Amino acid sequence: MNQAKHIAIIMDGNGRWAQMQGLKRVKGHETGAKVVKAITTYCSNNENIERLTLYAFSTENWKRPRLEVEFLMKLLDNYLKNELPSYLKNNVKFEPIGDTRAFSKSLQKTIKMVEEKTAHCDGLVQSLALNYGSQDEILRAVNALKNSKKDITAEMLNNALDCKEDVDILIRTGGDSRLSNFLLWQAAYAELFFIDKLWPDFSSKDLEKIIKQFTKVERRFGGLK
Ligand code: FPP
Repeated sequence: MNQAKHIAIIMDGNGRWAQMQGLKRVKGHETGAKVVKAITTYCSNNENIERLTLYAFSTENWKRPRLEVEFLMKLLDNYLKNELPSYLKNNVKFEPIGDTRAFSKSLQKTIKMVEEKTAHCDGLVQSLALNYGSQDEILRAVNALKNSKKDITAEMLNNALDCKEDVDILIRTGGDSRLSNFLLWQAAYAELFFIDKLWPDFSSKDLEKIIKQFTKVERRFGGLK
């Protein structure tokens, strides 16, 4: 039976969720942050799950209206500060991936602070993808390795990535069936789940169903049974 150790989620549909109820798009992000908390808690209570990687802000999200980008930055800052006690209580280690150098100094400070304060936690790793793009991640890794005297191996490249762990289950909410530059290397053998529900409506029950389905999938990794 397959056990999912690494779950990755593209949390799509916040804006549409809000607009469908006559609310501003940012209200969808606010509700989305509550779902981040609920799903993280659920995963931290499931002893098989080691890592949860969530796509919170992509390298392409800077193209959004300035006010929405600012709102997302503030939301992230508040989330990290407010949730620090629950990271600690649930023994969750926070590990950002992506190029956070583009963020304000104060947000970078908050990110570092939560990373350091949760560094000793040895339960779930919650990895937030922040100013993350898979192509950017691979390019940064290749550039870091470019002076290597030896040919670059898959292992060397993998170890130079922000996220070094293969993904077992990759979920995208919100009805689209694309990967949008998320964990392209790490998801090479992931099971993909594209679901119509919008992120603010996603619940731990939905995740539980997906995990159950995953346990029954036959994974061959290119080999034969
Ligand atoms: C996609 O929905 C979502 C995002 C670009 C941001 C994800 C952010 C959150 C879930 C909340 C904040 C997270 C944390 C960790 C505090 P969309 O806006 O593209 O939705 P749409 O496709 O309906 O427009």
